[in-house]
Amino acid sequence: MSPNNSPTFEINKITFSYNNQIALKDVSLTVPQGERIAILGANGSGKSTLLKILDGLYFPQQGQVCAFGNELTEQFLQDETQAFNFRRRVGLVFQDPDVQLFSPTVWDEVTFAPLHLGLPRAEVIDRSEWAMDLLGITKLRDRAPHRLSGGEKKKVALASVLSLRPDVWLLDEPTAALDPRSQSRLLDFIGELRKEGKTIITATHDLDIVEEIADRVVMFCEEHEISGEGRPHDVLSDYARLVECNLIHEHRHKHDATEHVHHHLHPSSHEHRHEG
Ligand SMILES: Nc1ncnc2c1ncn2[C@@H]1O[C@H](COP(=O)(O)OP(=O)(O)O)[C@@H](O)[C@H]1O
Ligand SMILES: [Mg+2]
Repeated sequence: MSPNNSPTFEINKITFSYNNQIALKDVSLTVPQGERIAILGANGSGKSTLLKILDGLYFPQQGQVCAFGNELTEQFLQDETQAFNFRRRVGLVFQDPDVQLFSPTVWDEVTFAPLHLGLPRAEVIDRSEWAMDLLGITKLRDRAPHRLSGGEKKKVALASVLSLRPDVWLLDEPTAALDPRSQSRLLDFIGELRKEGKTIITATHDLDIVEEIADRVVMFCEEHEISGEGRPHDVLSDYARLVECNLIHEHRHKHDATEHVHHHLHPSSHEHRHEG
């Protein structure tokens, strides 16, 4: 396929609109193999669209995206061998699991990818049982995915990519609907993937997980452009930019006669408490 030293992704000035609705504007980004990137941005800033483009589901109207040195175009993915190689290496966990789940049972869903890869039956079973165990969904094995709760669906969607074990993980708000135990197991697992040299791109607006899941943060502003990037600690310390990108908001609170401003992490961590 491609020379080994090609970056995992090379995105060059892409613009994408849904009909007349702009979603990404002039976005450029290079993702070397083995890097862990967090894509931060408020609702509607374009994170999910970017991940779908990286997964070869949408194609930008302007600019180019290369994956492993090959330009990702509709034509490229119409070639069955190329498409198979690409799909084997890249896995997307959708933000909305309803879009992802299609099988009659959870077991069928989780075994789909490894079966499709043509792995030996014993390995398909091993991988699938392991993925379901990691997310604590073994007991949902025979249930219909579309009849599960939101959080359960998200776990099934995650497990169906875990069983594929791709080189490149595209995770769209992976912790959003998860209970604390599953969230913690997933974060541990993402830590293990790092040791294996996997490339992991996570879209999130949960600032609490950023330092744990990323080496680099790319921030989108509400105008669908990249507003800045940096190491997690530096980006998370840049309050002005976080406010500008609508990732934290300022609340005014009255305490007796005084008034002051708090920074709130948005929207998951409303830790701040008032006593009377
Ligand atoms: N299927 C769609 N049709 C029309 N507009 C869409 C569609 N999906 C997303 N958008 C719009 O594109 C922009 C980017 O959306 P999205 O990539 O989902 O952002 P994020 O994941 O950061 O919340 C938003 O303005 C959103 O309303
Ligand atoms: Mg999204």
